[in-house]
Amino acid sequence: MAQFLRITSEPIPDLRGGGLPDSVCDVLERAMSTDPAARPQSAREFGEELQQLESSFGLTVDNMALPEDVPTRSTHESLPSTGPTTDSRQLPSTSFTSPSTSPSTRFRPPAPNRPLIDRTRLIDLLRAGQRRRLTAIHAPTGFGKSTLAAQWRDVLAEDGIPVAWLAVDSDDNNVLWFLTHLIEAIKQVRPHLSRQLAQILESHGDDAERYVLSTLIDDLHSNEVQTTLMIDDWHRVTSPETIAVLDFLLERGCHHLQIVVTSRTQAGLPLSRMRMRDELVELDSSVLRFDTDESDSFLREVGGLHLDREDVQDLNRSTEGWAAALQLASLSLRDSDDPTGMIENITGRHHAIGEFLADNVLSTLEPEVYEFLLSTSITESISGSLASTLTGNPRAQAMLEEIEQRDLFLRHVDDERVWFRYHHMFLDFLRRRLERDRPERIPELHRIAAQCSRVTTCCARRSITHWPPTTRSSRWTWSPSTGCI
Ligand SMILES: Nc1ncnc2c1ncn2[C@@H]1O[C@H](COP(=O)(O)OP(=O)(O)O)[C@@H](O)[C@H]1O
Ligand SMILES: [Mg+2]
Repeated sequence: MAQFLRITSEPIPDLRGGGLPDSVCDVLERAMSTDPAARPQSAREFGEELQQLESSFGLTVDNMALPEDVPTRSTHESLPSTGPTTDSRQLPSTSFTSPSTSPSTRFRPPAPNRPLIDRTRLIDLLRAGQRRRLTAIHAPTGFGKSTLAAQWRDVLAEDGIPVAWLAVDSDDNNVLWFLTHLIEAIKQVRPHLSRQLAQILESHGDDAERYVLSTLIDDLHSNEVQTTLMIDDWHRVTSPETIAVLDFLLERGCHHLQIVVTSRTQAGLPLSRMRMRDELVELDSSVLRFDTDESDSFLREVGGLHLDREDVQDLNRSTEGWAAALQLASLSLRDSDDPTGMIENITGRHHAIGEFLADNVLSTLEPEVYEFLLSTSITESISGSLASTLTGNPRAQAMLEEIEQRDLFLRHVDDERVWFRYHHMFLDFLRRRLERDRPERIPELHRIAAQCSRVTTCCARRSITHWPPTTRSSRWTWSPSTGCI
């Protein structure tokens, strides 16, 4: 809503002439009108108008995500009138009015769709440093960071320690969205506190960040509640304001709050400061690598392969225990008549291995599946109806489910199996293949994705963010050694 209010204080952008249907322009222009009387009276009314548009365009009508129990300003009096007791550092100021809605999948780890290999030695390391304030799990893409964080979460939950999970996204570069998402994450473990924080965020306007964070820290401290906050994919955050929030929590927080961060880079993490204070547990790619026994278990239990010990050792050596490469290798080896010969061919650094293995996997697919993968790689997330619009394939939902079943790095992100997401690394491979094999299709796919996103409610629109062609070259240079795409 804060974004919405900002938009309404600026002139309405010119939406006409870009191929957007008039009926869509009408609804959007009215929603952005500076005259409140001309605007829909509520987010629900606006959502209903968008749903009608979807229906009129023959698109699947999205469900509306409605916030439960939105706090009102009148409850402000119940907030501590003296403000925070914690020493506070000034955080960037911005105004805010009400919480956003985000897919609930951002607040829980991805559900594994295959058996997971126990990472006992890593869990032991995490356990040994459990009291430290910051645990940083940083390594390039596909090293098993999110999976390990999810496994650690389960262990903590079994020990009765509440864990709040937040998968950050680029919208968290707006500090107010980040705070809103943080509060939503806290809701899973401290619902009452979360309501109070939402009220503070709503009431305190320019000074909200300081109050929210201090209240959070004070509450955990005074109630002596041990809580862990897990932030997945921190590398997506680059804005100094949001980074300052994490700094503040680490700087001012007490031992009742442990923060676990997964990231492809070390940027935006106060590693040296925390290390100096002996408040850091750090797991990097050298530790995350699968060792020979873990690789063996992975290939047997996940890949269904029974290789000689020597082959496993060779594969482990050539992939350097990189989880994603092991997965790609197991897909390639499954149908191979000569696994040993194939393993001997897996050489080179990460990048080359990734390319080699992805090529190998993709070349064995049926043309229909290959084309489907390429076309559906244009958006960050994909649903059956969006996939069917992009590919013209009426069996799109079933195809997505089959692709997930085949372990092709696709995972459903909601319980209803409406939205799916490719692993970032695989998405990159697919996009490179799309650029190489079907460059002529790219503008059309973007046009379709853009059209779908324009007539979709904001919650779902986030999910169909598609790769902008203008920034293609910088975003598509994938390097496992740096984890950059
Ligand atoms: N312990 C594990 N057991 C089975 N598969 C794993 C395990 N750790 C990672 N993987 C697989 O390796 C791939 C990369 O893991 P992921 O956690 O997504 O990596 P990252 O977060 O570093 O990008 C995924 O397909 C995941 O299922
Ligand atoms: Mg991850």
